[in-house]
Amino acid sequence: MLRQQDRRQFLRATGLAGAAVSIGAQPLLSQQPSSSAPKERLRVGFVGVGVKGSAHAGNLLAMEHVDLVAVCDILERQCEETQQQAERLGKIIPTAYFRGTRDFERMCAEEDLDLVYTATPWKWHTRVCLAAMNNGKHAATEIPVAITLDDCWKLVETSEKTGKHCCMMENVNYMRNEMAVLNMVRKGLLGELIHCEAGYMHDTRWLKINDYGDGLWLGDHHAQRNGNLYPTHGLGPVAWYSNINRGDRFEYMVSMSSKARGMDLYAAKHLPEDHPKRRRKYINGDVNTSMLRTVNGVSIIIKHDTDLPRPYSRTNLVQGTRGILRGYPEFVVCIEGDTHQHKWEPGTKFLDEYDHPLWKEVNSTPLGKPKHAPLTEPIVKGAVWHYDPVRELRNGDFLEDYRYVEALRKGIAPDFDVYDAATWSAVTELSERSVADRSAPQEFPDFTRGKWKTNSPVEIVV
Ligand SMILES: NC(=O)c1ccc[n+]([C@@H]2O[C@H](COP(=O)([O-])OP(=O)(O)OC[C@H]3O[C@@H](n4cnc5c(N)ncnc54)[C@H](O)[C@@H]3O)[C@@H](O)[C@H]2O)c1
Repeated sequence: MLRQQDRRQFLRATGLAGAAVSIGAQPLLSQQPSSSAPKERLRVGFVGVGVKGSAHAGNLLAMEHVDLVAVCDILERQCEETQQQAERLGKIIPTAYFRGTRDFERMCAEEDLDLVYTATPWKWHTRVCLAAMNNGKHAATEIPVAITLDDCWKLVETSEKTGKHCCMMENVNYMRNEMAVLNMVRKGLLGELIHCEAGYMHDTRWLKINDYGDGLWLGDHHAQRNGNLYPTHGLGPVAWYSNINRGDRFEYMVSMSSKARGMDLYAAKHLPEDHPKRRRKYINGDVNTSMLRTVNGVSIIIKHDTDLPRPYSRTNLVQGTRGILRGYPEFVVCIEGDTHQHKWEPGTKFLDEYDHPLWKEVNSTPLGKPKHAPLTEPIVKGAVWHYDPVRELRNGDFLEDYRYVEALRKGIAPDFDVYDAATWSAVTELSERSVADRSAPQEFPDFTRGKWKTNSPVEIVV
């Protein structure tokens, strides 16, 4: 019997896709919209207001043209925190939904909403986005949008069928250096793009053994899966640099995991012998390295490295025919004709020169001073970030929320679409498959079904 993914590939290969592919017997009716009807005020419902969700809810509450009218969490106290946050800001008090893990479905069905935004644990993201779109609402989700290829396809097909946006909110794409690099790439500073290296290198061992917040769910993934579980912080900006789904696309990838030692050692050191989080075996390789190749010949290395002692990094290395730059541990460049030919040099002057116009706006208008509590004042006990760029993170987050809200208000295409969400998230299952098969190459699905050839680059580019 053909797997669902293989069945789709077969149908596309035989040209039957447009006519016959259906999910739940629903034919594909239309393409995902590039625009929607403009709307002066947006009504938003939020699902999952823990560490990250409460920060996004704070962003939305700080926006003049947004009414956060509903909030859903399995914990009533989290809903109450959001209600109190709204009250403090003099905004509408959102209706609370806290009757269990599927109560977001009731919220999506009952509430009159333009957008449903979720920051739940990973396994709920697809379900919330599907419930939103199937009830006529646009969807936004924290990363990743899905952890299986089948779910990626379901989201693409539901977005196309309902005509609703489904955006995966990758805040790193909006961070200052990443946006300046995007500007450099677009303006040709590096010449033709050849190679990138990025990733999520962040010691989060402590998060996985906590008995609150991410500790309740993140470690389960590390105990059950082996691959790149969190690819999009590194891959999102690289996908923008290389115009993925907009002139180029990921063609195939290979992935390799090291052995897994970090979490077992950490749990043994910090937890009592009979603790369930110590007794279980963590199988996700401490360092996972994937290599992707695009149709246009760009090579990309993406790493996932969260279970060993190490400083935070996303690498963010970009190399082209004119030179190379690297984001971590500090921003350095080597550009032919502009810097020493064989040495890294500090890239501050390039960051200043290529600062993205959106970031100039952030620093010169009230946009840069969101009224919500910063992430250093977490609602969830003890959930303080262990790396520094709180300000950068807050403003990158604010910008991503602001951009999506403004796109919906104006009825224009958001910076991300469902194809980006599916493509970037697909790395999780593809890496797991490759790791399980001695790093065998995995074909990337073309979620755009050929539209990558004619789609224009992300409009955020200037
Ligand atoms: N982009 C970033 O920089 C960044 C940073 C941190 C977390 N995240 C992402 O945000 C998401 C949430 O992470 P977090 O750290 O806030 O986790 P968290 O555990 O602190 O918050 C999750 C919240 O969802 C609630 N919840 C769980 N299941 C639910 C359900 N079925 N319906 C409604 N509510 C439910 C929980 O009670 C909790 O309040 C994850 O996808 C994570 O990867 C992204």
